[in-house]
Amino acid sequence: MCRIMLTLTLLGLSIGLVANAFPTQQSGNGKNWVVIVAGSNGWHNYRHQADACHAYQIVHKNGIPDKQIVVMMYDDLATNKQNPTPGVVINRPSGTNVYKGVPKDYTGNAVTPDNFLAVLKGDSASTQLGSGKVLKSGPNDHVFVYISARGAPGLLAFPNDELYAADLMDVIEYMHKNKKYKKLVFYIDACDSGSMMTKLPDDINVYATTATNSYACYYDEKRNTYLGDWYSVNWMENSDVEDLSKETLMRQFKVVRSKTRHVMQFGNKTLANMKVKAFQGNAKARPAPPMTLQPVVEPGLIPSPDVPMAILNRTATAKGHVYQLRSHLKGIEQLKQNMQKVVQCVTGVNRENPKILNVKMDKMQHQCYKDAVSHYKKHCFRWFSPEVRIARPSVPHPKDSPALTQASPALIQPPGLPSSDPAPRSPQL
Ligand SMILES: *[C@@H]1O[C@H](CO)[C@@H](O)[C@H](O)[C@H]1NC(C)=O
Ligand SMILES: *[C@@H]1O[C@H](CO)[C@@H](O)[C@H](O)[C@H]1NC(C)=O
Repeated sequence: MCRIMLTLTLLGLSIGLVANAFPTQQSGNGKNWVVIVAGSNGWHNYRHQADACHAYQIVHKNGIPDKQIVVMMYDDLATNKQNPTPGVVINRPSGTNVYKGVPKDYTGNAVTPDNFLAVLKGDSASTQLGSGKVLKSGPNDHVFVYISARGAPGLLAFPNDELYAADLMDVIEYMHKNKKYKKLVFYIDACDSGSMMTKLPDDINVYATTATNSYACYYDEKRNTYLGDWYSVNWMENSDVEDLSKETLMRQFKVVRSKTRHVMQFGNKTLANMKVKAFQGNAKARPAPPMTLQPVVEPGLIPSPDVPMAILNRTATAKGHVYQLRSHLKGIEQLKQNMQKVVQCVTGVNRENPKILNVKMDKMQHQCYKDAVSHYKKHCFRWFSPEVRIARPSVPHPKDSPALTQASPALIQPPGLPSSDPAPRSPQL
């Protein structure tokens, strides 16, 4: 029974490949704390780290000291060999360098869900590999958490691992019980990010907004990658140009919602009447002077799961490597077929297109779901492996450029599948 349920949810995963009272504005004698996370690595995921760096610049220029800002990002962009401007990371066309001064608290393999949860709990002793910087927040403090990542139902992807909604919810409850904040605000940009917050209570002073469906934007011809995510750049560009001591979270939410569908709010929505500065700035510091941004005429939106394909399409066409494109499409087709076989194998439904493949089920059993995800990842394919996720052709083409043929990690056949099948490809969430 559990096995079937598991598979059903996993399918969702692979297919998803998816005010009355005005609260006080100041945190009193309290402090502002910020946690910023980019949940991916690799050049084709450039946008998540670019978003994170930009978020740091906003809270930094609005007076929150570095010792109250924890940044988690892989940090493989500035020195990446695909970076035509070493040391520079931008988050909009012709944008300024957002990489400057970003604290390196948790980089590389320290960007883990466990470290993230320890940071929120203020549990420095449990952190590994990073600086050990954690929230030291108390009952008078405001905490702002921003995450830009890939996601799937009930989870957010970190570079090598996943953060599960239920674990995040446990830690929020812990923070509430242990008086780790006065008010807590989450902004999450990832596919299916709404599913991270559906269980958020409305009576613990937490407010969250999510992108829910994530779109990449601002393709950069020189860098061959997308510079930002649409939900993210919309709230951040709003924070850049507005006076944050006047702008409210609600207005910021509406600005974002007017540009992207599917944005959602959770928790205590009365908190949205608070000023943005109460979370993205220091109450005692003067807010940063508003910037002027040149409007971007065509943001070039594309659903996040299609990003690797879109990058390949653009670069392959530019370089005349249509062969690469075809082989990637073949890889996706192969993946679909393998997925169908897994479903047939587990459910015993021997039809070409089992209905299950087209529905997303609600997840009931947290541990069961985790086990299933980990089993699937181990035995079917590792979708979050650090290697370039662009599918590699079965027979390398002599003219293939090394950048495009970088091998996928060893992929293991799903159990029960004929071994003659080419290995399935990692989809992008
Ligand atoms: C929501 O927040 C407001 C402002 O802080 C507070 O007055 C209200 O009691 C909260 N609602 C719940 C259900 O806790
Ligand atoms: C690749 O790009 C071309 C032109 O921009 C477009 O017509 C085509 O549909 C794209 N192919 C895929 C598979 O996305």
